[in-house]
Amino acid sequence: MSHRLVVLISGSGTNLQAIIDACQTGQLDAKTVLVLSNRPDVGGLDRARKAGIDTVTLDHRQFDSREAFDQAMIDAIDPYRPDTVVLAGFMRILSPLFVRHYAGRLLNIHPSLLPRHRGLHTHQRALEDGDEQHGCSIHFVTEELDGGPLIAQAPITVTANDTAETLSNRVQQCEHQLYPLVLQWRARQRLSLTDEGVLLDGKPLPKQGYQHL
Ligand code: GAR
Repeated sequence: MSHRLVVLISGSGTNLQAIIDACQTGQLDAKTVLVLSNRPDVGGLDRARKAGIDTVTLDHRQFDSREAFDQAMIDAIDPYRPDTVVLAGFMRILSPLFVRHYAGRLLNIHPSLLPRHRGLHTHQRALEDGDEQHGCSIHFVTEELDGGPLIAQAPITVTANDTAETLSNRVQQCEHQLYPLVLQWRARQRLSLTDEGVLLDGKPLPKQGYQHL
């Protein structure tokens, strides 16, 4: 039975597209069963519909509290029985309620080499700090914002000509390779979060995760 993905988005959904494409080419042996957006009318919803994937929009502004919104997401997601819940440009902070509910099967991609540059504006901050290396990270989500155990990173070298925009473009290209790769590990049941940390093929990964060079 194929691995069931639910993908959460807030925007254009280029990572979602990479996942859809990888499923179509067979590089990723999984099925995206639902795409959920907290913003109406975003490009990622069109990408999902074009691929024939069910979509749900839950506008967080219509809920009284973070917990009420997160419970509504759980209620929408659970009937789809996800093996992995994939945050792909989902720009809402999640409550402990949500994080605990999907513990061990909730993944996020972040546009920096964590633990550097948690939060927003990561490309600008990498430039301002004079970072020689930048990139993206995929991690299991825990209650600490952008702080969960790392699974994989794709580093890039920052050059003198880079701007926030060029870095964003290059980091996104890395993201589009890295997410399908990591999700294929999940699909093949090679990747798990345990008390010993992140295990790939039963062995602990280094603290920075697998380095995709
Ligand atoms: C991606 O670069 C992702 O790393 C970032 O949002 C972008 C979404 O792009 N996520 C975060 O900043 C999460 N804190 P996409 O909608 O085109 O996939």
